[in-house]
Amino acid sequence: MKERLQKILSRCGIASRRKAEEMILQGRVTVNGVVAGIGMKADFAKDHIKIGRKLIRRAEPKVYIMFNKPGKCITALHDPAGRRTVKDFLKGVKAKVFPVGRLDYNSEGLILMTNDGELANAVLHPKGRIPKTYLVKINGVPEEKNIRKLERGVKLEDGITAPARVKKIRKTETNSWIEITIHEGRKHQVRRMLERIGHSILKLKRVRVNGLMLGKLPAGAYRYLTPEEIKKLKKEVISC
Ligand code: URA
Repeated sequence: MKERLQKILSRCGIASRRKAEEMILQGRVTVNGVVAGIGMKADFAKDHIKIGRKLIRRAEPKVYIMFNKPGKCITALHDPAGRRTVKDFLKGVKAKVFPVGRLDYNSEGLILMTNDGELANAVLHPKGRIPKTYLVKINGVPEEKNIRKLERGVKLEDGITAPARVKKIRKTETNSWIEITIHEGRKHQVRRMLERIGHSILKLKRVRVNGLMLGKLPAGAYRYLTPEEIKKLKKEVISC
């Protein structure tokens, strides 16, 4: 079915209709190798529509998933070493989603998976200072002065960490659980912060990213974000 080019381009998520018209006027759009003019129609199923050298494909609907990564699983879609990946748990998902950020091999908890590059960039960009909360089991009981250090910032090889929020949750004779919220995303950051004050991590689980809460989602399970969650997340992170 033939349709106006600007309508095809906007439906494919390339640009608004007005912007698409501008692209056509600028001579950047070709149909089967011929530079398109304004008002020209094309058949998306049969014609080769290009912007510059790039062939236009239909935009995949955007998908947003919350996954509870279990331990012993890598935050990647493929592992040459053959370890379990997050993809192994998302067999029912047809869209080409990818993980937003990472959790270490032994870490557990909330990983956002999406095919929305813009949202992923916004969540990961340091400028966004997106809060991430971790429930952490450590050996020993941290001293008050060390908790204050974590809150103010500790010196790591890659610089002083930004202020964190720390809450003591519970303790046993030998271990304790704390909740820590950071706004950065450095490699092994929580592990390194705790090591800096003399504690090793026995368990680490991300329970919250911005306003998204892991809740009772079982380890290894996933769920689609609700339209309200998606709207809120976009509003909070993309406008940063
Ligand atoms: N910080 C860590 O040290 N490990 C993680 O997996 C996430 C945050």
